Amino acid sequence: MNYIVANWKSNKKFDEVWVWFDEFGKQYQPRPEHEIVVAPPFPFVFEASKKLKELDLDRVSLGVQDVSPFPFGAYTGAVSVGMVAEVVNYAIVGHSERREYFHETHQEIANKVEQLHEAGVMPILCVDAPYAREQIAALRKEDLDKLIVAYEPLEAIGSGTPQEPEEVKRVVDEIAEYLPESTPILYGGSVKPDNAHIYLGIEGVNGLLIGGASLDPGKFATLAKQA
Ligand code: PGA
Repeated sequence: MNYIVANWKSNKKFDEVWVWFDEFGKQYQPRPEHEIVVAPPFPFVFEASKKLKELDLDRVSLGVQDVSPFPFGAYTGAVSVGMVAEVVNYAIVGHSERREYFHETHQEIANKVEQLHEAGVMPILCVDAPYAREQIAALRKEDLDKLIVAYEPLEAIGSGTPQEPEEVKRVVDEIAEYLPESTPILYGGSVKPDNAHIYLGIEGVNGLLIGGASLDPGKFATLAKQA
């Protein structure tokens, strides 16, 4: 099974969410080997869930782009996993933009993974090569068994130039050594409709994390079809 994850990042207004799903719904062709995950910003998650139900798209589920490292409680501004667990199956955590702009630490990210597991939401943990081992080591042992990892080389994100497939394979093989054998490892960084099949074809890569190319529903549907 391959995961194709749309990370909208901090983009789109409320009315654009409906348009995205309508357009995507028209062009999307489900494939049995692909699980599509759409991760809109927090304020849109419940509307997106309603819309998905209405469209009844096969093999498409929802995710969030982050989650609080804390449970419910006095944590002003935080979104606890319990608030969204009814409608999302996945949560991206530890994205390099969260690390860079919000100064998230390995331990905070490990706490997020723990929160997700307690709520039954599958974490998609983003890592880059220099710290993958340390980040994985910060997780609780029991959290290693239910995890998706996304390898995202910093220089490839949003740059238009994905990492060379040989290098992706080398790093993915290295990351796999720190993980249980069954852990899916995704690649992310400037994946587009015309190169998606190359990255999904790398042995050991079980999916793709898509930023820029997921903002356009037609492009994302094409990517999912061609990958
Ligand atoms: P990109 O982003 O596809 O725009 O490079 C990938 C990501 O940050 O997940």
